[in-house]
Amino acid sequence: MTDFGHSRFALLDGPTPLRRMERLEATLGRRPLYIKRDDHMEAGLGGNKLRSLEFWVGAALEEEADVLVVAGEPNSNQCRLTAAAAAKAGLDCVIVHNAHQDDWAGRASALSRILGATIRFVGPMDENRRSNVVEDVAEQLRLDGRRPYVVGNGVVGALGYARAAAELLRQSDETGAGIRHVFLPGSMGPTETGFIFGNALLGNPFEVHLVSVEYGLADLAARIARIDRDLRRTTGLNPPPLEDAAIHYHMDYLGPGYARPTPQAEEAILALARHEAIFLEHTYTGKTFACFMDMAKGGALPADEAMCFLHTGGVPALFWQLDLFNLIRQPDSGRTEALLPAV
Ligand SMILES: Cc1ncc(COP(=O)(O)O)c(C=O)c1O
Repeated sequence: MTDFGHSRFALLDGPTPLRRMERLEATLGRRPLYIKRDDHMEAGLGGNKLRSLEFWVGAALEEEADVLVVAGEPNSNQCRLTAAAAAKAGLDCVIVHNAHQDDWAGRASALSRILGATIRFVGPMDENRRSNVVEDVAEQLRLDGRRPYVVGNGVVGALGYARAAAELLRQSDETGAGIRHVFLPGSMGPTETGFIFGNALLGNPFEVHLVSVEYGLADLAARIARIDRDLRRTTGLNPPPLEDAAIHYHMDYLGPGYARPTPQAEEAILALARHEAIFLEHTYTGKTFACFMDMAKGGALPADEAMCFLHTGGVPALFWQLDLFNLIRQPDSGRTEALLPAV
């Protein structure tokens, strides 16, 4: 099937759930608060990259590729979900990890290997060098008579979130949720720019709140402008310009840097788990949810406007993040311990 003039291979089984967070509403004193569960998809434990992969795999199949090639850290969500998508599409998958093959890396990439991917550890290196290695791997595959497709084109990947904006509006209208404010992480750009582009195509029903988890403001805004421009070119669509949209950049939650913990993210992770039994992690969603909670508590947004947190997934990373927490590492400070009878 095609969407926005691009081939799409279905990997989601329907809209992801949209839920009210009523226990959290009671604690924070604001309603309604919604969560869109993009961490809740059937394939490969789900997450935002699965929406992008619908278009990456669509492009791969159109080119008659027979193997997906992807690169990332051993615990990369994109790598795991590419392995999952390859399994669903009947393609092979080669993953390049820019890390040493040690015990941690072996465990962190275990899900991808269970899904059938072939893993190559190429040692630590920056993203530029890693891209060259990926090209070399693809070339080697070609010489071996294979037809590789390199996963990761940000513009093609962004189309997944243009669809997600329409899906969220449909759910909001059907349920009467009236969602106005949508919060999501600001990182490499495809997810958030896709959402912004989809929102523009709908006439900007949502105000988009981007919580930076990786870059400074100028960098993040430039990434979004570039992908937005390329989306217009590749789809031939010309929705209202970026300047017409309500995009709010929240730059105060990054802390010491990408994937580095903050006390606010820890508090947010514990709050969502202990009110709604939903997991977040430290890299993307914890920091974003910390901002969401602050905005729900504070008076910055009109009191009658519905807020929605877009949970982009990544929860498997939590298994590697125990040492990033302060509170739950202390044996006598968790709620469970507090409930145990003294002995
Ligand atoms: C769970 C999760 N959320 C958000 C993002 C950010 O998406 P993007 O790189 O498209 O900005 C990622 C990227 O890997 C992710 O894994």
